[in-house]
Amino acid sequence: MSHGDFIRSNTRPLAVPSLPSIRLYQADEVTPLWLMTEKDMTQQRLAPPFWAFAWSGGQALSSYLLDHPGSVAGKRVLDLACGSGLVGIAAAMAGAARVLCNDIDPYTEAAVALNAELNGVHIDFLRGDLLGGEAPDVDVILAGDICYEKSMTDAMLTFLGQAPAKNIRVLVGDPHRTYFPSTGFTKLADYSVRTIADIEDVALKNAAVWELSRWQNTITTSTMSNSPPASSGR
Ligand SMILES: C[S@@+](CC[C@H](N)C(=O)[O-])C[C@H]1O[C@@H](n2cnc3c(N)ncnc32)[C@H](O)[C@@H]1O
Repeated sequence: MSHGDFIRSNTRPLAVPSLPSIRLYQADEVTPLWLMTEKDMTQQRLAPPFWAFAWSGGQALSSYLLDHPGSVAGKRVLDLACGSGLVGIAAAMAGAARVLCNDIDPYTEAAVALNAELNGVHIDFLRGDLLGGEAPDVDVILAGDICYEKSMTDAMLTFLGQAPAKNIRVLVGDPHRTYFPSTGFTKLADYSVRTIADIEDVALKNAAVWELSRWQNTITTSTMSNSPPASSGR
């Protein structure tokens, strides 16, 4: 079964909880993917299906782009760690000149294509892990919900840290995840986003949009406790 067929068979088009103008192929209580246990997923060699949900950080960042279209209108943007492609779709709706999505999960390329089609926007997909290399030639890098694991957060921040020197603006949406850094970012906006309670344990979650303002050689990660997304995505 192709990745696209798998997504169509296991999810269904649903409005994003806080952004009803955007629809995504998502897992919910009536879809097979939602009902699968972690054991089922391991047996089927499935990574946690992050692409089947609209994460709080991505919802906040997408809301910000639609509220402030000037932040991306006419610009070339990268949605890093795109999952479903939610943030990239919001950027395209806000008038971005070109949207690139990137994620290391092999299902995301098909998810982004299906979700872009569902919302009538065009998005290109950039394959591979970008984190060890140079930032692509874009004007803005967008990243929703990337600070839930320490090693991933460190690698993301190192990659993003090269952007200001290249005149690339970096916007991050984060719902106070454990490893979001306490320094180097300026808060642009706060949002209260609707979540899927089974994933986040709460129906409404506060999430903020941050701009990378400067880079520090020493990454300062917060040690405050805050649950990361469930490893199974449920
Ligand atoms: C919590 S999800 C957020 C998805 C989306 N941005 C949103 O807000 O809905 C985190 C995503 O990071 C991706 N990811 C993890 N490591 C990555 C890497 N090195 N490069 C790109 N994406 C990565 C995962 O595959 C997953 O899709």
